[in-house]
Amino acid sequence: MQSLKLSEIVINWYKKNLRILPWRPKNFNQKIDPYIVFLSEFMLQQTTVKTVVPYFLNFLKKYPTIEILAKAKLDDVLAIWSGLGYYRRANNLYKSSKIIINELNGVIPNNYEDLIKLPGIGDYTAAAICAIAFDKKVVVIDGNIERVISRLFELDLRGNDLKKKVREILFLNIPGKENSLFTQGLMDIGATICKPKIINCERCPLSENCRVAFKNSAINYPLKIIKEKKIKRTGNFYCLINSKKEILFLRNINLGLFENMHVLPSDGWLKDNHNLDFNIFSIKERFDCGVIKHSFTHFDLDSKVILLKVDDNQIRLKDNCIFIKLENLDMFSIPTLYHKIIKLVLKNI
Ligand code: ADE
Repeated sequence: MQSLKLSEIVINWYKKNLRILPWRPKNFNQKIDPYIVFLSEFMLQQTTVKTVVPYFLNFLKKYPTIEILAKAKLDDVLAIWSGLGYYRRANNLYKSSKIIINELNGVIPNNYEDLIKLPGIGDYTAAAICAIAFDKKVVVIDGNIERVISRLFELDLRGNDLKKKVREILFLNIPGKENSLFTQGLMDIGATICKPKIINCERCPLSENCRVAFKNSAINYPLKIIKEKKIKRTGNFYCLINSKKEILFLRNINLGLFENMHVLPSDGWLKDNHNLDFNIFSIKERFDCGVIKHSFTHFDLDSKVILLKVDDNQIRLKDNCIFIKLENLDMFSIPTLYHKIIKLVLKNI
């Protein structure tokens, strides 16, 4: 960098051009509530800002403090998260809130070492909370920041080698104060100017110093890593529906995918199956509704959807089974995949 340092350029730009986001303070003098940053960083894991905003506002209205969250019922927390995906985050956010209230005197840790011990907090989230909520001198690298730095220095590196180099560069350039603004400034330059497929160098505060500014080659950075093709799985999903238009769900107690959420019975696609003993039901009609495609982080799923109309006669359901009325589905924690399946079923009734 020439006359001005990288951090000064980014911070000056951010103060005038920041994105207005609901987890950011209204002005630079307002004290930051660490819970707000904590919550937003959980939600922003693997999810875009645009998707997160309405969920964040809803969630904060219902759970405005970490005390209120820790005292809530897990089912209600999962229900309000429903639709945002990656539900393990909601389970972990809840577990972390309980640890903070019960073991840490209700205080969100202000350092990397203690933050990373909490469930659901990895390297990135611990660093982001330290920098954004507590203005700590910590390097934060998300996709936007990695892209900006890899272009600025024309880094011909990929994967972990690239991450290491970006970390070194940021470490050398991190400001002694206002790291919160520096970090978010780099995020915002990446999100609004230095975008993956479009560059807007004429608006970029870093273009004078950028090795690829105004060049077509800019969009090649960061260099792509060759992704392995995702494996494909196929499963059968059963929608048992009675004449009162109630659908049978299972409360999933298996750890991992859809932990503590309500799922439809299914088989063939998971080790921890969501099995049901069909013998206790009297099935009046069976109909194959078709296939729903859904993508998870590590695999693509073809879900064969089977509608089973069942008799209403009184049967003793196991404790983990529940019939839910169609109009009440929103009150339960039901993953998006199952909402898609039910939509297809309803077309076939
Ligand atoms: N992505 C992850 N954390 C973010 C934040 N605090 N602001 C904008 N985008 C983000």
